[in-house]
Amino acid sequence: MPGATVLLRADFNVPVSSGEVADDTRIRRTLPTIRRLVRAGARVAVLSHLGRPRGEPDPGLTLAPVARRLSELLGRPRDAVRFVRHASGEPAAAAVARLAVGEVLLLENTRFLPGEAANARSLAREWASWADHFVTEAFGTAHRAHASTDALPRAVRDKGGEAVAGELVEREIACLGRALDEPARPFVAVLGGAKISDKIELVEALLGRADVLLAGGAMANVFLRALGLETGTSLVEDGAVDVARRLLDMAGPRLSLPVDCVVAGRVEPGAETRVAPRTEVGAGEAIVDIGPTTAELYGRRIAEAGTVVWNGPMGVFEMDGFGAGTTKVGLAAASAAARGATAIVGGGDSAAAAKFAGVADRVTHVSTGGGAALEFLACKEMPGLAALSDRSPSAEVAR
Ligand code: 3PG
Repeated sequence: MPGATVLLRADFNVPVSSGEVADDTRIRRTLPTIRRLVRAGARVAVLSHLGRPRGEPDPGLTLAPVARRLSELLGRPRDAVRFVRHASGEPAAAAVARLAVGEVLLLENTRFLPGEAANARSLAREWASWADHFVTEAFGTAHRAHASTDALPRAVRDKGGEAVAGELVEREIACLGRALDEPARPFVAVLGGAKISDKIELVEALLGRADVLLAGGAMANVFLRALGLETGTSLVEDGAVDVARRLLDMAGPRLSLPVDCVVAGRVEPGAETRVAPRTEVGAGEAIVDIGPTTAELYGRRIAEAGTVVWNGPMGVFEMDGFGAGTTKVGLAAASAAARGATAIVGGGDSAAAAKFAGVADRVTHVSTGGGAALEFLACKEMPGLAALSDRSPSAEVAR
């Protein structure tokens, strides 16, 4: 291992504001693997995407701020992680070739290259030609069949290298996988957030495994509409009402819907609210949170669970006054975890909801995956994991 060049695919798709990283959680979660590789004497070249540029450079989506933040987090001067403004071609290859033992280099946004989203084998072969081994920490991008997530690990394996998961990805697979494969019961799934159409497969998969599904947020609104109830001006995905009817039939009594709701005339921070039974939402009102009785019922089910999978907030928690249901659910998940249950938060804005509820470090695991966590939990094939040599920990490479 000492002296080997390792290409590390990270998911540094993090919010950047005024040239500074606004939330470095995903970077922090990759540090153990980077440190381990550095200690093992590897030369570490890191690939990542940021945002969704369309195969051409976009200065607003440069990874330069991420390189600075990564340097700071590694406890080095701000420019110690070298950064090259290219992800392919001669300047990128030269920067990788110049890496000294234990040095870390971040390459520019892989999505500046048209070959990335096209899963181009030529691009993957170019990258693979620089490296001895490949490690992925990009769980958040493992559902994408892109050149850096799919073709690259295959190309590294073709030339006799290892392509393995790092610690973050190992933990994601272990935590999410265990919840699906051998859940301690009762297994309670909490489903919120805005869109049901993105989550049909997730709901179907969870119906096959969970004992109880608790719905909140706009996800619940579409089920209420499917029951023929008035949902006023609430966010409801109209096209999904038929799907919701089908899921209600499939689920039977295992799917719980809110019995009461917090409603508001205007969806604005601090707007006046009232609590309404779900049968008494006014035509001019919007549902902005689950009601207190529902929060109490859901909280009790969650707190008694052996396994909790929580996806999506219970209301418009970002706005002042609409976050009590999300907080209650988060606290219940934390108390389940404190009792020894497995409580997992994952998908979409779930991590933000857990942070809002103040429980991000009190649950068993907060996934770094948005769409990726949803697809994993829906048991879909993940190209970025299927392409690896095996699912053994990065120990083999970092030895
Ligand atoms: C994410 O933030 O969910 C991942 O980085 C994947 O990003 P994408 O949806 O743009 O592929």
